[in-house]
Amino acid sequence: MTVQEIAPDVFRFAGWLSDNWATETPYCNTYLLRQGDDLVIYDTGAFRDIRQRMLESIASYQERCRGLYVVLGHAHYDHCGNNDILEELPFAEKHLLVAEPGIARLDVLAADRAGVLEEMAYYDVFAHFPFRILRLANRISPRLALALRGWAVARAWKGVKPMPHLAEPLRLDQCQTFAFGDVQFQGWRLGNLYLFYDGAHVPEHCCLFDPERRLLLVGDLTVEVNPEGTVSSLSALIDYCDRFARMAAQGHVEVVGDGHRSEVTFRQLFAKYRQEYGVEPFGESQLADVVNGKDMAVEFFQGFRDYYASLRDAVISAHERLGIASVEAIAAALAEVDSPALRLKRALELPRFPSLIRGCVTSVLKDRGCRRIQRGKEVLFEPASG
Ligand SMILES: [Fe+2]
Ligand SMILES: [Fe+2]
Repeated sequence: MTVQEIAPDVFRFAGWLSDNWATETPYCNTYLLRQGDDLVIYDTGAFRDIRQRMLESIASYQERCRGLYVVLGHAHYDHCGNNDILEELPFAEKHLLVAEPGIARLDVLAADRAGVLEEMAYYDVFAHFPFRILRLANRISPRLALALRGWAVARAWKGVKPMPHLAEPLRLDQCQTFAFGDVQFQGWRLGNLYLFYDGAHVPEHCCLFDPERRLLLVGDLTVEVNPEGTVSSLSALIDYCDRFARMAAQGHVEVVGDGHRSEVTFRQLFAKYRQEYGVEPFGESQLADVVNGKDMAVEFFQGFRDYYASLRDAVISAHERLGIASVEAIAAALAEVDSPALRLKRALELPRFPSLIRGCVTSVLKDRGCRRIQRGKEVLFEPASG
């Protein structure tokens, strides 16, 4: 586990990611900032090694700092699993902050189950799942497959401590509007820092911006597995990557860290998937641990905006060609389409990563409010007009 100082008094604790998601549980990059008399942590990651290194770094600041603020970019298990460090640390002021929709979602197993259930209203999720046991269970009952999946997830996330009883909501009715250049955001102030509420990757997702250091932490806004089905909004992912690209182009952003960027992992993955799928990174920024410099920041956000927009446009155009259609039919039509974004999406498909083409389809159908039509056992969707 490596620790890097990515800006003065800002540390990145490297997370863990492999393309064997089902058996090697990942955890996110974690960031620690000193802000005057306070320490701020953006996401706590999960599992023990990162926790120990964070405690050591925090201890070196303890004499000089009064307050400890843990800001959760979102409540996924791999970002909130070490929230229990709050109980261990003797700071005069301690807070665990999460955007309001994340409070309930800190019950991570219930939130995960609710996400899959919502997805199941769109298509038969387990019929084509890459695990035979779940496909077999699904033939008896989709609810049995869901319960089995829940059991496996609970085992994999056993060490995760999200501590929902400590969490304080960043209330949506207290969101303010902030502008940097000609770009506007909704969110909250935390001393000199800004928390931008995007709700894109999941409904509570927010990013952290430090205008003095020109530092932007974007969590899972820029993770190639997006969108994660109905829990994500592909249109919001496109919108916020576009806003950040414009903000960077206007000179407000110099350093960008995200939830899973890893030079080691991504260089290996692209080398492997170049052979297998013909995928190429959109630029060096996609392969770096941390994005450095204005030009690289612009490339990074434009690259993700274009990736997400290409996925959305491919789904819309396949749906329009088919007319009223099921998620399965749209996914089958997409299998015939070649584009750099779809090649990458195929390469990441479960069980390598928690990424499903069908999930991408459902995110677009939900975003566009496509009308649901039940014909016997079949669930169909009408293309949205306009
Ligand atoms: Fe994550
Ligand atoms: Fe996530």
